[in-house]
Amino acid sequence: MLKFALVGCGRIAKRHSELLGLNQIEKASLVAVCDIDIEKAKKIAEQFNISYYTDMDKMMQNEDIDVVSVLTESGYHAKHVINLAKYSKHIVVEKPMALTLDDADEMIRICDKYNAKLFVVKQNRFNVPVLKLREALEANRFGKLVLGTIRVRWCRDQNYYNQADWRGKWSMDGGVLTNQASHHVDLLEWMMGDVESVFAKSTTALVNIEAEDTAVVTLKFKNGALGIIEATTAVRPKDLEGSISILGEKGTVEIGGFAVNKMLHWNFTDKIDGDDEVMVNYSVNPPNVYGFGHQAYYEHVVDSVLNNKAQLVDGLVGRKSLELVMAIYESIETEKEVFLRFKPTRCKLGQISEE
Ligand SMILES: NC(=O)c1ccc[n+]([C@@H]2O[C@H](COP(=O)([O-])OP(=O)(O)OC[C@H]3O[C@@H](n4cnc5c(N)ncnc54)[C@H](O)[C@@H]3O)[C@@H](O)[C@H]2O)c1
Repeated sequence: MLKFALVGCGRIAKRHSELLGLNQIEKASLVAVCDIDIEKAKKIAEQFNISYYTDMDKMMQNEDIDVVSVLTESGYHAKHVINLAKYSKHIVVEKPMALTLDDADEMIRICDKYNAKLFVVKQNRFNVPVLKLREALEANRFGKLVLGTIRVRWCRDQNYYNQADWRGKWSMDGGVLTNQASHHVDLLEWMMGDVESVFAKSTTALVNIEAEDTAVVTLKFKNGALGIIEATTAVRPKDLEGSISILGEKGTVEIGGFAVNKMLHWNFTDKIDGDDEVMVNYSVNPPNVYGFGHQAYYEHVVDSVLNNKAQLVDGLVGRKSLELVMAIYESIETEKEVFLRFKPTRCKLGQISEE
């Protein structure tokens, strides 16, 4: 049985605490939570009859904890993970893992030093149609890859951004690319392979925030295929879709729904047994945009820790997707095609705004 604790008791903590606290994850339990806002910590603690703290160090020192999940604002992930690593407990960190590559490197280094496994939450990788798509790619069913595209068309109005001061700020969050679309950017790279270059444009269309609410990106992958990212939180009046399409010389797959959970097209030139059932068996739209993936994600964390298996999304994988987003921001600022690997000079992510 693994004992989990949470640092940060805000919006996403509801999802984590319900999974861990209501015994929905086999061999896992929730033992303590921490938030600098005592009322938030107390609320979750009382719901599950567990301890609560306002100081993460006190929690780590007083409680018997195997894994600690960092669910604080994105701009604090690095500071909090780096502080927690010294306890040599495994660490789950919400996406994005950090807002600068230097921070991501330090997180990886220090977790290795203290033998703490670092898990970056990318729960959409565990969506059943996404796993099915990955299986087809690994079996080389697409042949030569031609085009990979993602669309994040969600609705986040000014009220959403006003809920917390950190939202939409360069130093703490970034825009739709770093926050809402970070799952889809990760999926695109996971399916299509390493990116060679990006060219991007963005705008802040319908809300008053520092970063972008809308972006378009063209990508060239190292295997020669092309890609497109369309990401916006400026859809009105409600969420439309979170989707991915992979086109190859021998097949086409599109997954849509709100959170990449609904198989929309599964077409291959060379059919195999089971293809006809895929559309029926892999098309579950979840009740909210978080999807069902956090449950499968935690099951993976437990399996990785107890059975000493590699993490699917470790610090290096989390860093890769951060590097891609930073290259996109660099392209937006320079109005030029940016080739990876690169060193950011103009990307504003993780920087205090001068305005
Ligand atoms: N995987 C997903 O689908 C998903 C969905 C939503 C949010 N997230 C990520 O989760 C993170 C949190 O988002 P949120 O919407 O829950 O934010 P939030 O603002 O609602 O919650 C953050 C909480 O962290 C607390 N906190 C800050 N510093 C602390 C400290 N030193 N010790 C203890 N607690 C501290 C704050 O008081 C706050 O309650 C973000 O990085 C976000 O990108 C991921």
